[in-house]
Amino acid sequence: MASPLAPYWQNHVAGAWIDGGAGRIVVSDPANGEPLAEQALADAADVDHAVMAARALHLSGAWFGLRPVERGRMVRAIGQYLLDHAEEIAPLLTREQGKPLWEAHVEVAGAARYFEYYGNQAETLEGRSIPLGADYIDFTAYEPYGVSAQIIPWNYPLEMTARSLSAALATGNACVVKSPELTPLSSAWFGRAAEAVGLPAGAVNVVCGTGPEAGAALAAHPHVNQIVFTGSVPTGISIATAAARTIVPCVLELGGKSAAIVHDDADLEAFESDLRWGIFFNAGQVCSAMSRVIVHESRKAELVERAAALARSLSVGPGIERPEFGANMGAMVSEAQRDRAEAMVAEAVAAGARLAAGGHKLNRPGAFLEPTVLTGVSPDMRIAQDEVFAPVLSVLSFRTEAEAIEIANGTPYGLVGGVFTRDIDRAMRAARAMRAGQVFVNEWYAGGVETPFGGYGKSGYGREKGREALWNYVQTKNVAIRLGGTA
Ligand code: NAI
Ligand code: MG
Repeated sequence: MASPLAPYWQNHVAGAWIDGGAGRIVVSDPANGEPLAEQALADAADVDHAVMAARALHLSGAWFGLRPVERGRMVRAIGQYLLDHAEEIAPLLTREQGKPLWEAHVEVAGAARYFEYYGNQAETLEGRSIPLGADYIDFTAYEPYGVSAQIIPWNYPLEMTARSLSAALATGNACVVKSPELTPLSSAWFGRAAEAVGLPAGAVNVVCGTGPEAGAALAAHPHVNQIVFTGSVPTGISIATAAARTIVPCVLELGGKSAAIVHDDADLEAFESDLRWGIFFNAGQVCSAMSRVIVHESRKAELVERAAALARSLSVGPGIERPEFGANMGAMVSEAQRDRAEAMVAEAVAAGARLAAGGHKLNRPGAFLEPTVLTGVSPDMRIAQDEVFAPVLSVLSFRTEAEAIEIANGTPYGLVGGVFTRDIDRAMRAARAMRAGQVFVNEWYAGGVETPFGGYGKSGYGREKGREALWNYVQTKNVAIRLGGTA
């Protein structure tokens, strides 16, 4: 079923396809551990080349100087290009990342949707006129920062790139994307799309390189004007530190330990769908995954039984063999990520948690982990505090509403949260009390591209998605005009 891939993939800089100064990296298929293709690896000089190409385009005015409707049309066309090539892109994404083919199609469509949404926003950034009395005219205008650097994780390489690239382009920035070294191949499609829709060279540069080399060089580059990062907390700290030295703003999205509070009146049958998407979609490798459920003790046994049955019902295997939406799950991104998760589960069991389902790697090649449900988890266990980033659900229980909120808020993170109840007052109390950038009531992942998303606490700062994210990519200029004498 798998068609042959090009054996070697280059980086896209200044409108050209180039080799990497750091050589090549072998990209492998997490479903079987076999090599898929080679990817050019950028060194610091390649990163400099890309940043300077973006800067040159910015200074020329050939991109941000366009009428916004023209920029917006091109941004939308990138999304359409991705949709037009979904049959090629989705299998590539599945083979490098591990997710089921149907999920890869969901991701291609999601990536395209960002370009539609932000393409449509391009001509909506209007300034204001501020009254200063009869002798002045004053107005504000929003200008792009210039060079936007975007450091992308491997869990959603297309959607995470699309999320920042679409908004940055729509607002007139020139972009340098550092694609993830585990899953770089599908990112080539952004370079192809930029060429196909006629973006000026230098507007979209895509370089793959390692984090410590290319990523660090990009974050520290003196001509980068703004940084977007999604990934781990330690890497976020090093990027924010680099950005502090060059005085540039960043948006940091650093994952979470997000909790669903399930009250005694919740519809647990409906909640199965929230579990299915919340912790098993993308094999749990989602920053806003429902990694904890905090359930009222009166419903705990029923919830654990349903969660365990759901976990056992999922057919786990190669994503490429899973083209249709259904009860299935693919490989994790790498054996290292899988082994890390399996070790965290074993540690939780040693600390007193119990396995209601799964917990072990599959006895076959590839980075597969059984869909896992842990019960008897207490709030201070490491499994309840640290991001596992795997199909691993921790079930905790509560007696009082106050206790539920305390447990939900009892981690350093604060990305999203959820509350499941038929009682609107209870739901609103939780929505107010949860320290998280987004709260879902009765549906995990409710919302979309239109709704702002981002963290409290160690989950980061800044907001992506929605109109709010546009402000990440622009700076305000105020122009005050002293009028001349009387006529
Ligand atoms: P990471 O945060 O190190 O990698 C993400 C991106 O940052 C990659 O493109 C990488 O090349 C780049 N990077 C790494 N070090 C860098 C540096 N010093 N300067 C600039 N860029 C750098 O994540 P990693 O190590 O792959 O995964 C570890 C854990 O991080 C996961 O188990 C998960 O808990 C979390 N994570 C969270 C994500 C999210 O969506 N919030 C996405 C990926 C990882
Ligand atoms: Mg790392």
